[in-house]
Amino acid sequence: NQKAFIFDLDGVIVDTAKFHFKAWKKLANDLGFDFSEAQNEQLKGVSRAASLNKILAWGDMELSEDEFNKQMALKNENYLSYVDTMDEKDILPGVSKVIDYLIEKDIPFALGSASKNARNILKKVNLFDKFHAIVDGNDVTKAKPDPEVFLIAAEKLKASAGNCVVFEDSLAGIQAANIAKMISIGIGDDSILSEADHNFKDFTEVEISFINNLLKEA
Ligand code: BG6
Ligand code: MG
Repeated sequence: NQKAFIFDLDGVIVDTAKFHFKAWKKLANDLGFDFSEAQNEQLKGVSRAASLNKILAWGDMELSEDEFNKQMALKNENYLSYVDTMDEKDILPGVSKVIDYLIEKDIPFALGSASKNARNILKKVNLFDKFHAIVDGNDVTKAKPDPEVFLIAAEKLKASAGNCVVFEDSLAGIQAANIAKMISIGIGDDSILSEADHNFKDFTEVEISFINNLLKEA
């Protein structure tokens, strides 16, 4: 019953969710409309193309394929200008404590992210080499809440789904973990992530004793 852990990236390990929001907001504003922080929740965990489709629907807009691709590229360029400023100090509080403990105990852990920028970001914050496996937006065809990303991660960790523990800040990600029959842990607002098996406001609340209890669970 060896447990394995899977971390989402954006909004769990690093606070890039706020950069995605800023970059999408600029895109919408440039196109002549706006959307709210509540609407932004629906973009968390969602792929770049699916996000743009949702945003365009909110603005009641349609774009040609060329223009759509151009807008996605512009958004990513803008997003990466924020990412460029990142370093180890951008790892969210409490995350390193848990990662270091897993390393100390020789527990395997993977990244399970929808982002195509995930590898780049992990390198920027110096975590790239610590993960046993990385599964990101380049490796999957189906977006969360489809469990594909987590199932591939479990396979790479050689762990059964039931022994995997998933940290997620998005509802789509919690649903993906639940569909995969993994242990889901919501990081963020528990009114949004109420479907998770466990909830924490952020990683500073995730105690080592809690990790130990998970490790002991059958
Ligand atoms: C997810 C984020 O992790 O990655 C989404 O929660 C984002 O907001 C998605 O759209 C895709 O990211 P990227 O970096 O490939 O545009
Ligand atoms: Mg996330």
